[in-house]
Amino acid sequence: MENIVLESLKSRRSIRKYKQEPIKKEELEAILEAGAYAPTGMGKQAPLMVAVTNPDTVALLSKLNAQVMNGAQDPFYGAPVVIIVFGNGESNNCVQDASCVMSNLLNAAHALNIGSCWINRAKEVFESDEGKALKKQWGIPEHYIGVANCILGYIDGPYPKAKERKEDYIRIIE
Ligand SMILES: Cc1cc2nc3c(=O)[nH]c(=O)nc-3n(C[C@H](O)[C@H](O)[C@H](O)COP(=O)(O)O)c2cc1C
Repeated sequence: MENIVLESLKSRRSIRKYKQEPIKKEELEAILEAGAYAPTGMGKQAPLMVAVTNPDTVALLSKLNAQVMNGAQDPFYGAPVVIIVFGNGESNNCVQDASCVMSNLLNAAHALNIGSCWINRAKEVFESDEGKALKKQWGIPEHYIGVANCILGYIDGPYPKAKERKEDYIRIIE
């Protein structure tokens, strides 16, 4: 079946090489708006998104993220923008809601030809003292949990190919 949305969902890939230039503000806003329209449990719109474009803060977040792995490499692959998605720790749907937001962000970025990738370890970063201080600075209530980071930027280099889908991915029970 030919459909532009389905084709877009299938052609999104995780991007791990970025140009340094920041994405346009209107592009970032459109991606965030798509995130805010994700489905949420009981329609409570419980997650929060924090978009960081300040290079020093992106670098700090990358450093804190790398520290969780005891690694030195940039876990953000040089992306100039990161959106942290926080879930409401008081909700049963904390991770589910935030994951739906993440999915919308990744797919919205792709729809605008902007590279993106889900980056883990937001939980650990925002449980650290430095992470807690950032949360406070940004006005994020304490019971919000870092679920994931969505890095964004213009794609540098060849577009990755999708792996073949596993054979037993799908069952239709009729
Ligand atoms: C829950 C989750 C965690 C992920 N964490 C990372 C990560 O920390 N670093 C990274 O480079 N990619 C991460 N990814 C991206 C996956 O590696 C990627 O989606 C997968 O290899 C499939 O590739 P595709 O997105 O191009 O289809 C994560 C993806 C998900 C859904």
